[in-house]
This record gives sequence, C-alpha cells and structure tokens, in this order.
Amino acid sequence: MVEDKKSMKMDVETECALEQEDIKSGKRSGDYILEIRGISKSFPGVHALSNVSLQLKRGEVLALVGENGAGKSTMMKILAGVYTLDAGDILIDGESVIIGSVERATNLGIALVHQELNLCDNLTVAGNVFLGREPKKGLFNKFVDTERLNNDTAEVLKKVGLSVSPSAILRELPIGTQQLVEISKALSINAKIVMFDEPTSSLSEHETEQLFKVIRDLSKQGVSCIYISHRLGEVKEVADRVVVLRDGKLSGCLEKHEINRDAMIRLMVGRDIEKMYQKNHTVSDKVRVELKDFIVPKRASYPIDLTIKGGEIVVLSGLVGAGRTELLHAIFGIDKRWGGKIFIDGSEMHINTPAEAIKAGMVLVPEDRKLNGLVVNMEIDNNIALPGLKDHLSKNGFINRDKVDELADRMVKLLDIRLYMTSQLAESLSGGNQQKVVLAKWLSMDPVFLLLDEPTRGIDVGAKAEIYKLLEDLAQTGVAILVASSEMQEVLGIADKIVVMCEGRVTGELDPLTCEEEDVIKLATESAVC
Ligand SMILES: Nc1ncnc2c1ncn2[C@@H]1O[C@H](COP(=O)(O)OP(=O)(O)OP(=O)(O)O)[C@@H](O)[C@H]1O
Ligand SMILES: [Mg+2]
Repeated sequence: MVEDKKSMKMDVETECALEQEDIKSGKRSGDYILEIRGISKSFPGVHALSNVSLQLKRGEVLALVGENGAGKSTMMKILAGVYTLDAGDILIDGESVIIGSVERATNLGIALVHQELNLCDNLTVAGNVFLGREPKKGLFNKFVDTERLNNDTAEVLKKVGLSVSPSAILRELPIGTQQLVEISKALSINAKIVMFDEPTSSLSEHETEQLFKVIRDLSKQGVSCIYISHRLGEVKEVADRVVVLRDGKLSGCLEKHEINRDAMIRLMVGRDIEKMYQKNHTVSDKVRVELKDFIVPKRASYPIDLTIKGGEIVVLSGLVGAGRTELLHAIFGIDKRWGGKIFIDGSEMHINTPAEAIKAGMVLVPEDRKLNGLVVNMEIDNNIALPGLKDHLSKNGFINRDKVDELADRMVKLLDIRLYMTSQLAESLSGGNQQKVVLAKWLSMDPVFLLLDEPTRGIDVGAKAEIYKLLEDLAQTGVAILVASSEMQEVLGIADKIVVMCEGRVTGELDPLTCEEEDVIKLATESAVC
C-alpha cells in the first residue's frame, strides 16, 4: 500500500517534470490560453516562486493548491499585474506578453478575485463593480451615467445570484455579500481568464454552489478559470485539473481522475495527515459562562440564553448573516448589548467595552483580520504583543523587549507561522499566516473564555489540524470556548455542542454525536421558524 502510494507519487512527479521541461523548451503549446514558463519571484528573504511552469487550456477550471505561503497568491498577482516577475515568460494565446500593470492585465482579459477584499467600503456596490470604468454621459462625457451604471451592475449581480441593490453602500453589507461583489467586479470585465483566490472563504454553502454554477457557465463559454482554495472538497467538485505548489516550487499535477483529498495533501505537505479532529478533552460539569436573556443590538425580539461549561467547545452554526458575528461582538462589548446579563464562573460581568471584556478574561479572534485583527503595516512581533503591552509585557511604562521577543518566538513556533523574521511587517505574510498571527495575538492572553469567529478561514489543512489540536489543548485546561464556523466538517468535528442560528435567533441546540449535517442545515434554514 505504502509502496503503491510512493510509486503513484513518483509517476505524478515524473509526468510533471517532463511536462515542465516541454513547456520550458517550447515543445508544448497548442490550444492554451495561458502558458507560464519558468517564472520566479523573490521578496526580501524569501523565494516566493522558483522556476514554475504551467499551462491553462481554454474553458478549463484549473485548481491551484498548496500550504499557506506556497506562492499561490503571488502567482495570481503576477498574472493580474500587481507584481512584476523576476524571471520567466508568460504567453497569452501563444504570444509572449509583459503584464506589468493591473490595467494591462484587464486589457488582456485577465481578472482576479483577490484573497483579501479589495473594495472601497464607502462606495456603492455599483461604484465598486465599475470603479474607474463607470459609463459616462453629458458634455465631454464628464458625468457618471448613474442609471446605466446601476443597470449594468444589476446584470452582473444577477450572474452571481446576488439580490442586493446596486446603490447599497458596501460597508453596510455582510462580508459574504461583499465577497460576491468582489466576484461580480471580476466578471464585469468579460475576461478570458478569471482567477479566484479563495473566493468561498466567507460564502455560505448556498452562495458557494451559486459560484460553482457561475464557474461552470464561464467554462462552457470558453472562459478559463484558476481556482485557489484550501477546501479540498470544493477543489474536487469544481476542478478539471489540479496543480500543487510547495515552497514556491511545482510539487505535482493531478488530472481529473487522479483528484482526491489524500493525493492533494500528500503533494502539498509531503505526508499524510493522521487525524484532523480528535476529541480527548473532558467537559466539566460546572458552567463557566452563562448568557441570560442576552439581547444583541437590533434583535430585541430574540433574547438568547446560552451556557458554556469549563472545557466545552460550543460551535455557533448558521448561514452567512445568521447573526453569529453580531452575537460575538455584543458579548465582547464591541457593540453594546441591548439587554441581559453575562456571568463568568458565577459572577456577573459588566461588559460594555472590549477592554472590560479582556479584563474579565475574554478574548475574541475576529473574522475580518484586516479590519479588526491585525495592524498590517506593523511588525509581526509587535502585533502579537499588542494586547499584552499595557499589562504583562511592560514595566513602569516601558515595554519589556525581551518578554515581547520571547512571546513572539513562542507563538510563532506554537502555530508554525512561516516567516523570515518576526520583525517583518505583517502585510508581507501570506493570507493564512496572517490569520495565524491574529490567533497568536489573542491566544497569548491566556483567556478563560475564548471567542473565535471563523478561526480557520484561509488556513491550510496541516495548519488547520494544528489549530484544532490547540483548541483541544485549551479545552483540556478548562477554558470555555465559543466558535462561529461556517464549515460543516469543522462544526461537526470540533463541537461538544452545536448552537444553530438563523436571522439573529437561536433556532436550536444539537449534540454532534447524534445529529447529522442535515439537522444543522434544517435549523439554519427553516424559514418558517426564522
Ligand atoms: N509583498 C510581500 N512582501 C514580502 N513577502 C511576501 C509578499 N507577498 C508574499 N510574500 C511572501 O511570499 C511567500 C508566498 O506568499 P503567497 O501569499 O503567495 O502564499 P499563498 O500560497 O497565497 O499562501 P496562503 O494560502 O496563506 O494565502 C510567503 O512566504 C510570503 O510571506
Ligand atoms: Mg494566498
């Protein structure tokens, strides 16, 4: 069996190496919309891509997978004109091209749906979708033709199944909807190549299905797609072919019939992952956290009662917009609750601000790392130290640098954050590694009540297993844990208790040992109840 796996891997590797040689020497070309020949790109201290070649057929859906920091986004950004390459060639329709700018990429028909939302949140949906390309009217075409802008936008929104007004202000929309606006923006240029960098990380299952339909339609029309995701189930569902990157190099290719989870993981991390979820912790009999008649702002009709025992992992499940983030924000004092009480270890806590929440022993690992979690233009070590600076990391008003360094090193090791040095800026890390810095920052506070909002969003399989293990260890020490998660496997895999929400209301509690996926979905969608 082991031999079989080894020889299969060798075959794939040899095939890939031969293909690489052929591409580089120009022997293979033909009906490819895109060919990448031996491209390399370095940043200070890291070879993000080393001599990578690949081809994309017309109408093909090619998935690009790899661990956090493997170089996937870098490759997409080169194709989208955000970064220039250090070496190598890019051919579009058999012609060698120099991309160099986002405008040039757009003219070549290349569109990128960015991993991190790349929108202006003070503009309308339509303003975002056609930013810089607004239809004009009037003398010398000086004025934006708002009517046409809104109509054109409504057409594109229809394609992704989004029923939001083109004149809605972006920041007032939930993050999943914003993600769909980002996708609409890419579709609006009628591209030949559309690249999706983790497009589903904040989409609900239904929205994800809608996106797959869009991708299949694009493919039928001959548009080629490159699809990046850490959700390997999705990759299997949508991809015609998979290319795996590892440490900036091509690690293997899988044809449609070879695509399966284990094969992808092996090429990604070079080993099998033993067990994703392991429940070894014991839940205490004592309630550690209790919410009584808790009212989230604007949800006055739905008071929430919730208990979390010591060492218990309670998972909030629901569709995008179910009100999970709102609940976490109200508990943590980001938004002032409208009523009700919070008890920790039997004592009532008066929490009206995050500072008071932290004082009471809570921490919140937020969903939107750029907005709430990370100071991107600050060093990694200082980001990690931020919550403890006023407290245990300083003395007499001075920061204890040794303690900060020791903490940063410990957390980097614990979460296996892939970096060059802890003093580099957080924005220079790959998306998943940025997420790990956010986790490190809050876990360093040793909380008694840990709140996490989509903690593994954008995290690769290996690191996911590590994070689950970490939650497991924290639960073992008696911490009460409340996690909002949209990934069904994760919900069922880590929860001691599942609390399902729909439109701001708790619709039921389930025991993961006895419930099925359908039970969760039913409670999350029961419109009669909501
Ligand atoms: N602007 C930058 N400055 C410095 N280093 C960078 C920059 N962008 C990327 N890197 C580094 O290049 C490497 C590849 O990063 P990239 O973002 O391409 O990874 P990825 O495969 O997209 O990972 P993830 O799954 O976490 O999004 C990483 O080591 C990252 O830290
Ligand atoms: Mg990335």
